[in-house]
Amino acid sequence: MYLGVDYYPEHWDINMMDEDMQRIRTMGSNIIRIGEFAWHLMEKEEGKFDFSFFDLVIEKAKKHDLVVMFGTPTATFPAWLAKKHPTILSEDEFGHTRVFGGRRQYCFNSKIYWEYSRRIVEKLIEHYSNEKSIIAWQIDNEFGHEGSDMCYCPQCHSAFIEFLRNKYKDIQRLNEVYGTIFWGQTYNDFSEIPMPQATITTHNPTLSLDWARFRSHSINAYGKMQIDLVNQLKGDHQQVTHNFFGGFFEKAYDQNVMSEALDFASYDNYPVWGGLKEPLEPAHIAMTHDYIRGLKNKNYWIVEELMGAQGHNIIGYLPRPNQAKMWAYQAMAHGCENMLFFRWRGMTRGAEQFCLGIIDQDNETGRKYEEVQSFMKDVSQHEGVIKSEIKSDIAVLYDYDNNWSWHYQQQSAEFNFTKELVRLYRPFHRLNTNIDVIDIKKDFSKYKVIAVPVMQIIDEELSKRFKSFVEAGGTIIFSFRAGIKDRDNNINFKNIFPCNIREMAGIAIQESESLQIGQEAEIIGLGQFVGKKGQCEVWRDIITPTTAKVLYQYNDKFYNDKACITENSFGKGKVYYIGGGVLQNNILEEIIKDIVIEKKISYTETPEGLEVITRNYNNEEWLMITNHTDENIQFQGKDIQPYESLITRK
Ligand code: GLA
Ligand code: ZN
Repeated sequence: MYLGVDYYPEHWDINMMDEDMQRIRTMGSNIIRIGEFAWHLMEKEEGKFDFSFFDLVIEKAKKHDLVVMFGTPTATFPAWLAKKHPTILSEDEFGHTRVFGGRRQYCFNSKIYWEYSRRIVEKLIEHYSNEKSIIAWQIDNEFGHEGSDMCYCPQCHSAFIEFLRNKYKDIQRLNEVYGTIFWGQTYNDFSEIPMPQATITTHNPTLSLDWARFRSHSINAYGKMQIDLVNQLKGDHQQVTHNFFGGFFEKAYDQNVMSEALDFASYDNYPVWGGLKEPLEPAHIAMTHDYIRGLKNKNYWIVEELMGAQGHNIIGYLPRPNQAKMWAYQAMAHGCENMLFFRWRGMTRGAEQFCLGIIDQDNETGRKYEEVQSFMKDVSQHEGVIKSEIKSDIAVLYDYDNNWSWHYQQQSAEFNFTKELVRLYRPFHRLNTNIDVIDIKKDFSKYKVIAVPVMQIIDEELSKRFKSFVEAGGTIIFSFRAGIKDRDNNINFKNIFPCNIREMAGIAIQESESLQIGQEAEIIGLGQFVGKKGQCEVWRDIITPTTAKVLYQYNDKFYNDKACITENSFGKGKVYYIGGGVLQNNILEEIIKDIVIEKKISYTETPEGLEVITRNYNNEEWLMITNHTDENIQFQGKDIQPYESLITRK
């Protein structure tokens, strides 16, 4: 097991290195990550490569018995390169060039940037391919983050046109699929096609989706170039990874594609960041871990685990004593096998003065150091449990085409895809079940239950996969707006909603309503839920059941005979349809608990805020327990302290 810190010795007097590494080692580390922003230090002037500083760092690391993960430095190019070749700089949607001074402002479609990137990566890997203490290469840093997924420069425009030409071949085909007859937008030639930049009203939905697909393709192509180059040059003992960030569903970047070429996925776990009054809820944090594990369907690394308050110009919430440590345990519970904390010492100069690390400006070891030290000591005694495989009977499915469709047409001002995915994930998390979060392209036939949040795009092929899953005895839970669109982001014509799943869901939807900020639709329970009531926010599908049983219906003047939540038996399985943004967790929890019990899925009931993940190792069951609250919680005879974590036999 590798445990360590992100270390930036180039930020400090080199005479501090020995003491730093000594304390890093004493804390319990055996690895440091270095280099991911140090391009200028390696190439101060064009073509003059000098790795002597990092040669010294690596020598000292070896002296202190630390191995190294080395980052390729292409997230931050040198000023001389931007000055010589300003076309490497990306542009925002208003055509403003992003000037040198931040980071990640390069254009993924700049061939000049590709060439300079290739050269620095080539020189770096060649220099260290035989270095035994370098065990892994991190490619760049958080591709697509901080707005860098988007560039509207002329290079991207011409690359986009080629992307469309290759996809549609004939401009008439594109016109037909896009429906450009609408608003007289018919193109005579691909060269007339714009990028979906600022305009009056809104762009063609299919153009917008193709643009997002193109952005993802651009990022993945650039990353693949680096990964292939590193694989070609690295030592056999060295692996290749990339560090993914947490706001993945909000970006035009399908991380599954990048993951295919990696030896292992890495994640930067920040449950709270600049400007947030409080952290993400436990279920949301857990979901991000299950998503990262789902990229390669295997355990992963965390190469940046938050320990101090974070923020660039606005700082975020201060993690309470043991709270950041608890998030580290939660990560291990969800499949993180190796972890590096961000960062050894907060940097007192530069843009991240307020991205605090383990050590603060006083350079003293304090609470955070002791928390990391005790964490490292404890988890290193449970390596087997932590490295055990996580097997889930439940999967939450997503599709980046679908996310991007929603991104460009939210249909409700209150809509947010991640919020809707967590709405279906949360009830399973509340029962402490194992949950996979995977792309629809992955095989989901082995699961007992699949949840399919707000899946607008359900084409024939996907519909067949759902149908065979249910007929074979699986349970599917859809939520609102399922199946309204085809793969081209167009509304299905001559087809009653929910298209392609109507028979298995046993319902028909002729009307729907977008609910805005503060708007809620009341629902009341029927049958076993009679007497219960709640509200829907964001959206409501006004459902007419055909063969389905109604679990909850609307309770308002015009629609009090229309369903909101339905259950339908189909083949040997069942299909649930949650027709609105149900606000009350308990409503979904009751329905989903019945499903979990009926499907004989193991679960653990806990008080609110206590997460308990069961892991199997050596034919024994272990519990990884994290208290996400500032209260004492009693559980199985234990008095669990605020933000306390423990790994214990069941
Ligand atoms: C991201 C980056 C790091 C650093 C942290 C600060 O995860 O990868 O370089 O900027 O955020 O929180
Ligand atoms: Zn560009």
